[in-house]
Order: sequence, then C-alpha cells, then structure tokens
Amino acid sequence: MTAINDVVDLTREGEIAVITLDSPPVNALSAQLRAGIAQAVEQAVADDAAKAIVLTCAGRTFCAGADITEFGKPPKDPSLSAVQAVIEAAPKPVIAAIHGTALGGGLELALSCHYRVAVPSARCGLPEVKLGILPGAGGTQRLPRIVGAEQALEMITSGAHVTAKDAAAMGLFDKLVAEGNLREDAIAFAREVIASGAPLKKVRDLDEAIAPARGKPEIFAEFRKKNARKFRGFEAPEACIQAVEAAVEKPFEEGLKFERALFEKLVASEQSAAQRYAFFAEREAAKIPDIPKDTPTREIARVGMIGAGTMGGGISMNFLNAGIPVTIVETNQDALDRGLATIRKNYENSAKRGRLSMEDVEKRMALITPSLALDDLADCDLVIEAVFELMEVKKEIFTKLDGICKPGAIMASNTSYLDIDKIASVTSRPGDVLGMHFFSPANVMRLLEVVRGEKTEKDVVATAMALGKRIGKVAVCVGVAHGFVGNRMLSERQREANNLIMEGAMPWDVDRVLHDFGLPMGPFAMADLAGLDLGWTPENSTGETAKERLCEIDRRGQKNGKGFYDYDENRKATPSKVTEEIILDLSRAKGITRRAISDQEILERCIYPMINEGAKILQEGKALRASDIDIVWLTGYGWPVYRGGPMFYADTIGLDKVVAALETYAKSLGPDFEPAELLVRTAKEGKRISEM
Ligand code: 3HC
Repeated sequence: MTAINDVVDLTREGEIAVITLDSPPVNALSAQLRAGIAQAVEQAVADDAAKAIVLTCAGRTFCAGADITEFGKPPKDPSLSAVQAVIEAAPKPVIAAIHGTALGGGLELALSCHYRVAVPSARCGLPEVKLGILPGAGGTQRLPRIVGAEQALEMITSGAHVTAKDAAAMGLFDKLVAEGNLREDAIAFAREVIASGAPLKKVRDLDEAIAPARGKPEIFAEFRKKNARKFRGFEAPEACIQAVEAAVEKPFEEGLKFERALFEKLVASEQSAAQRYAFFAEREAAKIPDIPKDTPTREIARVGMIGAGTMGGGISMNFLNAGIPVTIVETNQDALDRGLATIRKNYENSAKRGRLSMEDVEKRMALITPSLALDDLADCDLVIEAVFELMEVKKEIFTKLDGICKPGAIMASNTSYLDIDKIASVTSRPGDVLGMHFFSPANVMRLLEVVRGEKTEKDVVATAMALGKRIGKVAVCVGVAHGFVGNRMLSERQREANNLIMEGAMPWDVDRVLHDFGLPMGPFAMADLAGLDLGWTPENSTGETAKERLCEIDRRGQKNGKGFYDYDENRKATPSKVTEEIILDLSRAKGITRRAISDQEILERCIYPMINEGAKILQEGKALRASDIDIVWLTGYGWPVYRGGPMFYADTIGLDKVVAALETYAKSLGPDFEPAELLVRTAKEGKRISEM
C-alpha cells in the first residue's frame, strides 16, 4: 500500500487500483483529501497494470461532502471540481464504493465516477440546501441527468437522504452489494466492468432523463407554486430550482458555470452563514464541558409517564417510536382512555398518510402499559411527570415517587417554568431528579430542554442527553430559572406584544411583522391556537387584558371559531372588529393615547428584549453557550433557521445597534429595556455574542 498523504492510500489488487480515503470522522473533503484523491487517481491512471479504479472510504461513512469549516476562508487548490475532472477524464473505469452516507460533495464525487456500488444500509443525498447553499460541484447538473428533473428538484430542494434501495431504483447506484463485504464486492464489480468491455459512461453525457423536461418551464413553475409555503423566506431553494432548470436547458459546461455562480453568491450570503452556524450549534449543544462524552449512562429500558394529556401523550409517543415501553399513569379511567385514544388516532393518521404501516401502529400501541396506580411505576428506569403546573401538585407527586421508584431510577419533571431544585428537595435522592422539558406538540417539536438541578448527578444529565438523541430530539442542557431558556425569553416577547396593542398596534400588525420576519406565527395567532382560556376562569378574570376580556365574551380561540381573530370553517383567520373595540376600550381605560407604531418598532420591541434576556441567561450561566440559546429557539419555537437564532441575529444586526436601541427604549418605556451587562460589554469589545 502506498500512502499518498496522511488521509489517502493507493493500493493494487491484481488489475484493480484501490484508493482509500481515511479522514475521520466523516471523510469531509478537506484540501488535503482533495489533493490526495487527485494524486491517487493520476497515479492509478499512470499504472499500466491497473485496468480499473475503486474509490472507497475507511471509517463509519463514505463522505459527508465539502468540509464546511473551509467555507468563508480563501479557497485552496485543488478545487473539488478539478478533482472531479481528473476522475471523469480517467481512461479507465472509476467505481465509487459507498457505505454509510454519500452526502453533498461526497455524492457529487461519486457522480463524477463512472459507476457507483453501495451496501444496502448506505444512504445518499444533496443536503446543501440545509446549509443555505446549493450543490456546487456539479450536483445540480449531474443528478437530473440520472434521475430526471422532477426527482432531482425534490432531492435537491429538500436535502433529504435517499436509501440505497431507492437510489438503486432511480439508477443512482448501479449495484447493491452485500453488507460488510463492500471492498471485495466493488473489486469484483470492477472486474466485471473490465470484462464487459463497455465504453466509459460519463454522467455528464447522459440526456435521456432530462430530455422530457426540456422546453417545459411549467414543470418548474408548478414546483415553485407547490412548495411556496415550505420555501418561504429561504434563498437557496430558488437557486436550486434555477440550477436544475439550467441542467435541462443548457449544455453541461454552461450549466456547471451557472451552478458555480449561484453557489458563490449563496455561500457568501447571511442566510448560509446562519444555517452553517446552526449546523455546528446543534452538534455543540450535545457537549457539556464538565460531563465528558464517555460518562457512563444509566440504562433506560422502560419509561413511566405520569399524565396522559396532550403533553403526556405526545411525550410517550417519542419513546414508543424508539421501541421503548411506556407505563402511562392517569388518575381516572376516562382520562386514561382518552389519552390512549389520542395516541392511537395520531398514529393512525400517520398511517393514512403512508408514513407508518398499520402493523407499526399496533406494535407501538402494544408497548403501552396503561395504569391507574403510581405504584406501577416501580419497575421504570425513568419516570416523567407531566401533570398540572402547580408546585404543590408536583411536590406531592415527587414525594410519592420517592417511595415508589426503584434505586437508580431517574425522576424527571416536564414543568415548563417551575424550580426543579424545589421539586427535587422533597425527595431523598435529589441527584436522580432533573427537568425534561418537551415542547408542544411533543411528538413533533425537536427540542428537549434538559434542566440540570443544583444536585442532579452528572450521569443523570448524561443519560437524559443521550436518551434525547436516541428518541430523535435535540437535547440542550439548561439551568434552573423561571421558564428555563425558551419560555423565559418568550415571556419578554409576550409582554411587549401586549404592550404594543395597548399603545397603538393591533394583534394582526404584530403577528404580520413576526410572520414576515420568518416565524411560523405571531403571538396572538399562537394564543388563539393554544386556546385563550388556558388557565382562565370567570372567577379569576381581572378583565385588564385583551385576552381576559375576550374569554369573558366566550371568544376562546380557534377551538370555538373566535379569539383575537374571527375564523371561518377552514380556520382561515380575519381581523376581528370585536377584538379591535375591546383593545381600543382597554387603551382608553388605561389612559393611553394610542399612536401609529411602525413595523420596525414592533419588530425591535418583540425581538430585542428576547436577545437581552438571552444575554442575561448567559450571564447567569443558565445556558452553556449562546448557540444553545439559538438551538432552543430554532428547534422549539420555529425561529427561521436562515436567521440563525436570536443571538446570531443580534450579531447580524450589530450588537452596538441592538444596545443603542435598547437604551433608547429604556428611556421612553422603562427599565424592562435596560441592556444586560454582558450585551453592553460584548458590544464594546467588538465581539460576537453568538460566539460566547
Ligand atoms: N464538514 C465538516 N465537518 C463535518 C461535516 C462536514 N461536511 N459533516 C460532519 N462534520 C463533523 C461534525 O461537525 C461533527 O463534529 P464534532 O464531532 O466535532 O461535533 C462530526 O463531523 C460528526 O458529525 P455528526 O455528529 O453529525 O455525526 P453523525 O454520525 O450523527 O452524522 C453525517 C454524520 C450524516 C455525515 C452528518 O454529520 C451530516 O449530515 N453532515 C453534513 C453533511 C452535509 O451537509 N454535506 C454537505 C456539505 S456542503 C457541500 O458538500 C458543498 C458541495 O456541494 C460543494
């Protein structure tokens, strides 16, 4: 074996040259790897004894594409395109042997080979769109030439991974070989190719798959229309569509140039910077400085769930989906039956949409042990409580759990605001207690706030973080504070939204501004969706807020067709005259002279106090890093990923500007806007808060 450099080897097995890339953890295409591949291919081409070349990867995966850490730095030669040109021009067949994932530039590398073989567990895809860019090494030009324009549009704009079986069906993989024997089988395949004497097949020369879409702009127009909602606010998907259209309409080389120009533009964009930041932030969130990665975790073979309501049911589904049995406890049979029926209905709806087989539905339901007795939680390794949000109720439950749970069992609360340390204090084992805060709908939202109490044992935190990953969540470790990270910041926004409608804006103005900013919905539409009467009773109504006034006249939100908005039978919202009157009346009663409020003010007053609160959270050490705060907002509240998260967004605006605006508002509106010390200091030092 010849080492070409530290990360590439070249060897020969009879007439087959084998190039092995070995750059852990994911064989990302660094400059060194690119140089090594080009040199290895050139040497294999020059070796007269080699009749074909197999390109394979060591480690857990084929290749995860371009090295994302190189973006934004001066480019180093050779470019990936130059390496591809060497491969494509090789006068002997080059065969990519794929295991794990071939993603982005990794798949593009494979597409410049003459053949692709893969093991059945392999997956491939062009996920660049998720980083705010498009495939920039010919992916938008070569992929359609194999799978056709429509399939390529789908794959490139979604960034979704495709299984080996599907890839083979599309013609993307030429052959699937046995699991665990990839190298040998790829060599055998190479021998077959040589024996067949087939002329070299270059993807760039194929036309059959794209010809049907030529001269048919309506295909692309329809695709745009169909996905308009999904693509709202994003720049990259439109560029992807244009590039695929170019693949169909332009000669290959011109298409490549077109793709390159779009890539250069996107890679320098704010959106892509934000999306790349989010990619790394998500991975950082898994790391807790004082809890090493190899900390042993406790085994979680059975979970106990207290409460079968909306939250309890949704949380349970995460575990059932991962094949973990769940004992669900309720206080009465009716509530238990209703909870189980809702879970079943959710699964059956997924089955109707083809996302699950009926057999899977039954398998998951069979993992549930319904119960009316807390004592039945004795054999659970983890118990999560999702009952009424009242400290006394929680304390009562945890006192009982302390007597029931087996030694070593983890006891978690799904509280969204309450003090975990106080809850833990009623048990004899506060080290086994922590918060596991899921976000509604709990079976859908990716965020899991893992709330680390003062006494929570390290292995308990490590177990919750690992379990989060196992059930497909993004776990973020946070400290004890009212509302932890997400809801604490949300409260700031809510306060300002309420103030704004008293001072001159209407709920639909606030909602429109935040929706245009990229959030899925504004606070008032959100309140209507959640139900305005959450926690409201006629007895406790002060009548001092618009929300309470609305409840008093039976405007309870979407569920009864009227709330801040009026709803038609399709749940389409229109601004309500009644709401407007209530708001004007309340302003009058409070002696407020209403004024015109600009969209800019609405945005700043909703978002800047959140940023400020984020800085306070950091200052107090309640989040490990600013990027964790951003991940909370990206995965729990639908913050638009192309804006990176509140803290990243603050840097985009310029911290000095944010601080100046907060100071101005503090003068006119009061101390709620007083900028946090950390924010002021970071701005002064010219640093980025998102890097704190
Ligand atoms: N560049 C640089 N680092 C990368 C990387 C990449 N393309 N892909 C993964 N990494 C790093 C991660 O940051 C992580 O680092 P850490 O251990 O220091 O936190 C490490 O590799 C392992 O990654 P994961 O924790 O994500 O490991 P998994 O096994 O869970 O997932 C994966 C592996 C499916 C390959 C996943 O990492 C992934 O999706 N990677 C990104 C793939 C991608 O987006 N490729 C497109 C790149 S852009 C491109 O190719 C442009 C081209 O068109 C020109």
